[in-house]
Formats: sequence, structure tokens, C-alpha cells
Amino acid sequence: MPKHADLKTGPGHVAIIMDGNGRWAQQRNRPRLFGHHAGARRVREIVAACPDLGVKYLTIFAFSTENWKRTQTEVAGLMSLFRKYIEREAKALLKNGVRVRFIGDRIRLDVKLVRLMDELELLTADNDLVHLTIAINYGGRDEVTRAAKRLAYEVEMGRLTHNDVDAETLSRFLDTRVLPDPDLVIRTSGEARISNFLLWQSAYSEYEFVDTLWPDFTAVEFARVLSSYGRRERRFGAVLA
Ligand code: IPE
Ligand code: IPE
Ligand code: MG
Repeated sequence: MPKHADLKTGPGHVAIIMDGNGRWAQQRNRPRLFGHHAGARRVREIVAACPDLGVKYLTIFAFSTENWKRTQTEVAGLMSLFRKYIEREAKALLKNGVRVRFIGDRIRLDVKLVRLMDELELLTADNDLVHLTIAINYGGRDEVTRAAKRLAYEVEMGRLTHNDVDAETLSRFLDTRVLPDPDLVIRTSGEARISNFLLWQSAYSEYEFVDTLWPDFTAVEFARVLSSYGRRERRFGAVLA
């Protein structure tokens, strides 16, 4: 059975593929990074809206394992934006009851960024109002592969046997091990694909694709998308009476 956040109203766990920053900037004849900065400002508004909307867990896709294919300028600009975001937002996140976690492979990230990520996780570890998870250098296939590798190592060490390998055990080796599965995945900018986000965890998630570019995605639109989720019937493979 998929595990889900146990909330009566609204989707307990919303995951967002924040797409469209580049096109937003392009429309204004500005460099792509201008769009990424505008996008980062939106994150604050969406996180702040979560408690009132019944969203306990918010997981956002900030940088994929495939995004390294972009120009060096854009990649470096994004990495510096992530550092600035953490430095600038840490205090407010702490004060507002937000617990921050990061998922993705940290091995390829700059040590300074990784240190800031570790510090923010530690700083906010006692918060429980909203659980914000930021995916940086994250790819669903990469995550499952890393989990399989660690599982194989446990078997090699004799701490597990091949008979212990089931969906539940594998989940415990994923980056998301402490998170419920997403109830709803939203993608902005009109693209209707998953782009390697939460492949395992979204097996039974609902999807909403909206045309709005991420820097234009307001808390009002967020609330509207969540209310349309409330009208759906989820069956998880069963026939409902
Ligand atoms: C999403 O916006 C942010 C990241 C992938 C880092 P894009 O940069 O993909 O914007 P578009 O899709 O080119 O408009
Ligand atoms: C997905 O967006 C990754 C993030 C939002 C961080 P992309 O813009 O990288 O995805 P594709 O290339 O359009 O599939
Ligand atoms: Mg994109």
C-alpha cells in the first residue's frame, strides 16, 4: 500500500515541478537567470500558503540530474542562487515553522552549498508545521539506482538477504525515506511530462499540469489547483463501493 500523509482536508503532500523560468525571462528579453531569480521569489509565497491550505509536505524540483547539460553560465548561476536562497531565507523558514530537507545526490554539488544545506536541515530540524523538501541534483532513476546500490551493499555485508528485498525495504534506502508519497504532483509551464521527478513515489499520485510559467504561479492559483484535486476520486487500484 502506498503511504500517504494522513490529513482529512486537501492533499497532505504536494510536489511541484517548477518549470518555465527560462521562457518567462525570454518573454521579457532578459537572461534565463533573471527568470530563475523570479522563480525563487515565488517559492516563498507558495511555502507561506501551505499551512492554510492543508499542505503539510511540499516537495519542489529545483535542479535535475539532467540540468547539468545547460550552459556553464546557467548552471553556475543556479548554484549561486541556491546558496543565496538558503542564506537569505534561513531565518524566516526557522521562524515560520518550516522544516527543510534536501533530496538528490550531493556528491556533485559544491562543498560550500552542501554545507549550507546541512546547516539549514539541522537548524530547522525541530520544526513541524510545513515540511519543505528541495530536490537539487535529483533524478528519480538516479535515486532508485543509489538505493539499489546501498541495498546490494547491505546484502554483500550479510546484514540483509535477497529475500529481504521488497518495495518496503527499497523505500527505506530512497532519499525520501521519511516522507509520505506525494498526493498531488503539479507541473507548471504547460509541459505534460515527469522529467525524472519522484518516479517511484508518484506511482499513485494525481497530476495537474498548468500552463502558467513558474514565476507567475501565485498562491491564489495554487489554492485553485488544490481545490480541483479535492474533487477527484482516488482508487489505488481498488473498486470503490
Ligand atoms: C525550471 O525552469 C527551472 C529549472 C529547470 C532549473 P526552466 O529553466 O526549465 O525554464 P524553461 O522550461 O526553459 O522555460
Ligand atoms: C524539470 O524541468 C526540472 C526542474 C524543474 C528542476 P526541465 O525544464 O529540466 O525538464 P525538461 O527538460 O523540459 O523535460
Ligand atoms: Mg524547463
